[in-house]
Amino acid sequence: MLATPPVLETSRLLLKAPEQVFAEDLFAYGSDPVFARPLNISPMQDIAEARAFLQMLCDDNAKGARSYWVAVRKEDQKAVGTLGLIFGTDVLAEGECEYGYGFAPCTWGTGLFQEASKAIIEYAFNGLDFVCIKARTRGDNHRAIVSVEKIGFKLAQTIKSYYDLPGGRKDCAILELKRPVAP
Ligand SMILES: CC(C)(COP(=O)(O)OP(=O)(O)OC[C@H]1O[C@@H](n2cnc3c(N)ncnc32)[C@H](O)[C@@H]1OP(=O)(O)O)[C@@H](O)C(=O)NCCC(=O)NCCS
Repeated sequence: MLATPPVLETSRLLLKAPEQVFAEDLFAYGSDPVFARPLNISPMQDIAEARAFLQMLCDDNAKGARSYWVAVRKEDQKAVGTLGLIFGTDVLAEGECEYGYGFAPCTWGTGLFQEASKAIIEYAFNGLDFVCIKARTRGDNHRAIVSVEKIGFKLAQTIKSYYDLPGGRKDCAILELKRPVAP
């Protein structure tokens, strides 16, 4: 795995390796309760949290635990999301990776997430040779589930009471997308 993932380009986005220069934009949406609610996390209180998150992504990329990107809108150079592949987690078998994603609420429903996802999936299957990508989320995060179903992910497993959250235990949905078999 490359320590610094390559820049990927879509029609409206550049997917770039995480850097501290994106902290302000990540804090802008990370501090929005609309973004935090489906993830069951507290909105960011301080830009230091955005810096720490970016540092964690850089460290994980460097040690080969992830290939993760920041999605930068070409139109205004704003960072509007983070997304990428996570390797070697407890739900994965040989040849599989996980897909993680979170975009600023101002982009929801605009197709940017779909656009970025297609580039990441193409890279996972054809650049890194994975045969299956898994997406894991809370069973009641309906928007996140529908958003990957639109790409072709199918529900593979529901793990009851998997997440221990302030509001009580929640189920986990694992969806998967298999690499198309060449004709
Ligand atoms: C998950 C996320 C990236 C999706 O981005 P998005 O731009 O909203 O995604 P899309 O518009 O492509 O798809 C969302 C779909 O869910 C649908 N939807 C929204 N709320 C819904 C609900 N409560 N129930 C069912 N479907 C819902 C939308 O209508 C849309 O489908 P449509 O295009 O057929 O109308 C974004 O919502 C996000 O960043 N959420 C916070 C982070 C997160 O939850 N990450 C996920 C896993 S940990």
